[in-house]
Order: sequence, then C-alpha cells, then structure tokens
Amino acid sequence: MECLLTKGKQRIKGEVRVNGAKNAAVAILPASLLTEGAVRIDNLPKITDIGRLVEILKALGAKVTFSEGRCIYIDSSDVHTFSPPPSLVNTFRASYYLMGVLLGRFGKVEIPMPGGCDLGPRPIDQHIKGFTALGAQVELEQGLVKIKAKKLRGAHIYLDVVSVGATINIMLAAVKAEGKTVIENAAKEPEIVDVANFLNAMGAHVVGAGTDVIKIQGVSELGQAEHTVIPDRIEAGTFMIAAAATRGEALVTDIIPKHLDPVIAKLREVGVQLEVGPDWVKVNGNSELCPVDVKTFPYPGFPTDLQAPMMVLLTQAPGISFLTENVFEGRFRHVDELKKMGARIKLGGRTAIIEGGHELISAPLRAMDLRGGAAFIIAGLISHGETIITGVEHIDRGYEQIEERFQQLGVSVERRIISKVFPGK
Ligand code: EPZ
Repeated sequence: MECLLTKGKQRIKGEVRVNGAKNAAVAILPASLLTEGAVRIDNLPKITDIGRLVEILKALGAKVTFSEGRCIYIDSSDVHTFSPPPSLVNTFRASYYLMGVLLGRFGKVEIPMPGGCDLGPRPIDQHIKGFTALGAQVELEQGLVKIKAKKLRGAHIYLDVVSVGATINIMLAAVKAEGKTVIENAAKEPEIVDVANFLNAMGAHVVGAGTDVIKIQGVSELGQAEHTVIPDRIEAGTFMIAAAATRGEALVTDIIPKHLDPVIAKLREVGVQLEVGPDWVKVNGNSELCPVDVKTFPYPGFPTDLQAPMMVLLTQAPGISFLTENVFEGRFRHVDELKKMGARIKLGGRTAIIEGGHELISAPLRAMDLRGGAAFIIAGLISHGETIITGVEHIDRGYEQIEERFQQLGVSVERRIISKVFPGK
C-alpha cells in the first residue's frame, strides 16, 4: 500500500508554483462535450480526477490528445452516447457535471447517482431542481439517475442552497436551452467564473457569473474554443498554511491573490506575515501565532476546503480557537486522527474548539478525503517524530505530485510502499 512519510519538526523554506484549479477543470473538461468543435484547454493539473475524466470522455467517444505540458485537445464531434460507463463514473463525485452536459447536448443522460464521500451526505436535489425547471423529467431508478427532455427551455431558478455544483450544472444544461435562464442565489466561487468564461469562449451567452444572479441566453450551437484554467486557490492556500504552521517561509507563485482574500485576511489575524504581489504571495511564519475564530462559508467566505489545514495551524496557536464548518455537515473526519497526535480538539455540533500551543506527536494517520489528507502532511511536518499517512489516493485526487511539491519547499515528504496495515485499523 502507498503511503507518505514525513519527518517532523521541519520548517518550510522555498518556492512553489500553483497548478490549475481542480474544481474548475473537473467542470470545464465535461463542458467540452457541449460543442462539436475542437477545444484546447491549458494549465490542467495532473491529478487523478482529471485522468479519470479523460477516460470518461474517451469512453463516450471523444478524441482526446495531450500536447506538451498541461495542454489537452478534445474533439467530441463523434460523441453519440448519453450514458457514461458506470464503472468509470461510480465513485467519482464530480461526474455529476456529465448530467448537465449530456442533457444539454443530447436531451438525455443516464448516470449512476454520484457517490458521497467523507464530508457527509452529498445531495443533488438542487441540481435536479434546476434540470426540472428547464423542462427535464428526472427519475432515480436503482441508483441510476435518468434525465430526459424533449426540449430544454430557459427558466427562472432560485436555489434553496448556495451550491457550487448545482450552479455550474444548471449553467451547463442551460447554455443551449431555448430562451433565457436566470439562476438566483447562485454560488460565487472563482471556479464558476472560469467555467462561464470557457462556455462564453465556445459562444455561449452567460453573464453574472461570480455574483448571486447568473443570466444565460440559450444559443443553438457552440463552437471551438481555447481556454487556460485559473490557478488553484485551495492548493495555494494549502501551501501558505503549511508554511505558517511550520513557522517557515514560502513564496507561492502563479496565483490570483484576489481569490485568496479570505485566506490572507485570516492568516494575518493569526499573526502570519504575508506580502502579496500581482501573482504571488510570500508567507513568513516566524512570528507569534494567535488563536482566532474561523467560520467556513461559500465564497467569498473562508473556504471549507481549507478548514482541515487551518485546524492544524490553529493547534499551534497558544490559546482557544474556534473553527465552525458551515458548508458541509460531516467535514470533521480529520479531527479523530489529529487527536491521535495529541491535538486538543473538542467538537460541539458544527464547531471545533481547539486548545492550541501544544506539540503534536507523530502517529499513523489515514486520509479519508483530499483536504484532510493534505492537513495530515502539515501535521506530520510539525509533529515530533516521523508520520506515516495512508489513503494517499485521496490526496492524489486533488494535489499533483504532492511529495515533490513539498520537497520543492525544502521539507522531507516521501512516497513509500508499506506492506502492513496499521494495527487496529
Ligand atoms: C464543490 O463541491 C467542490 N467540489 C468541493 O471541493 C467544495 O468543498 C464545495 O464545492 C464547496 O465549495 C468540486 O467542485 C468538484 P456544494 P459541491 O454543492 O459542488 C449542499 C474539494 O476538496 N447541497 O457547493 O458538491 C451540500 O450538501 C471538494 O476540492 C445540497 O443540499 O458542493 C453542502 O452542504 C470537496 N443540495 C452545500 O450544499 C445540492 O443539490 C455546498 O455543497 C447540492 C449541494
């Protein structure tokens, strides 16, 4: 079994370039099926979620070729099936974007219900609300989602929940619907703006992405397009928090600082020194850390995807910190693992109370989601002793060559193969 091995008591000192945003790319790749033209997408992260999506696109009949670096060409003129292979789709959460895309292209889609994961229930009721409003019939049959529409017509959709996935999925289905669609209470994440920019590059008419009201004027055809995926703000924030937690220094480059405003603001509250440039941020963690109150919220709130890494940082800030998870109801699975390292964390509903300022002691950790896994690497770097982290497949879903990236930052994180499972696991 693969694991990551970190040496403890290390200080980050180095520079790292941030890759393309996973949560934009996993929607932009399927969106390329909406056109029969060829598309060129650059700055793709080399992560397993992207690899799986490419396999799905090929299984649907798309011609996919990689060119130098991080660029891909997709020609989906020969795609004629509305049902991706369940084996490829089953446990892959972001496969739900294939619903909006195949519905938008063929007026029909059959796909397994997207799997949940370790963040608690992952309903898709708001996605279905949008598709239904656009005129589709939706059936759930033995774990299969069957959606069909004679014709998709624009609608006024008011989301009950601010949902990144539902906002994007409805956009994908609406760009070729007849007439105008309005999505109210839309999510405002930068990744949504990036998807909208890609759709418009193909000839769609989407306005308002990044605000809570998105308007889409349906078009009959989409054409070819070129697009470069925006930098991954969550990957950037992960490295920034790691530098702060190890009391080290890092230069994180190729970012869009605006996308990191909530993270920069909160790290400054913790006492971390940050210098922000046009497309970089310099982190200096050599200062006294203070306890803070963090609440995750949809963008531009503090991102839920950095809740776990932030929790590790707060174990090092002397005093009592509060971390409230307002987006997902089950996103504290990493707490028990951190407590094995001696972290003093109490859970009360959606709030974690962290008594910071105490050393962590290394312990075998099992990642159950990608952000919790990234947090365990940070915990391993600051703890006393060597830490073995399993569940590396979760981390690889969203972080490209994570051990090499941390090595660039001057610390020892190694990928190893171990034979035995941890006792008692
Ligand atoms: C996206 O997930 C991201 N994944 C998540 O990143 C991210 O944590 C999340 O947005 C919030 O920012 C991708 O983009 C692939 P939501 P998504 O719909 O779209 C509830 C990572 O680590 N909800 O915004 O699934 C839902 O239960 C991943 O990169 C409904 O109730 O999240 C949650 O409580 C983890 N009904 C809240 O909304 C619905 O129909 C926000 O979920 C949809 C969602």
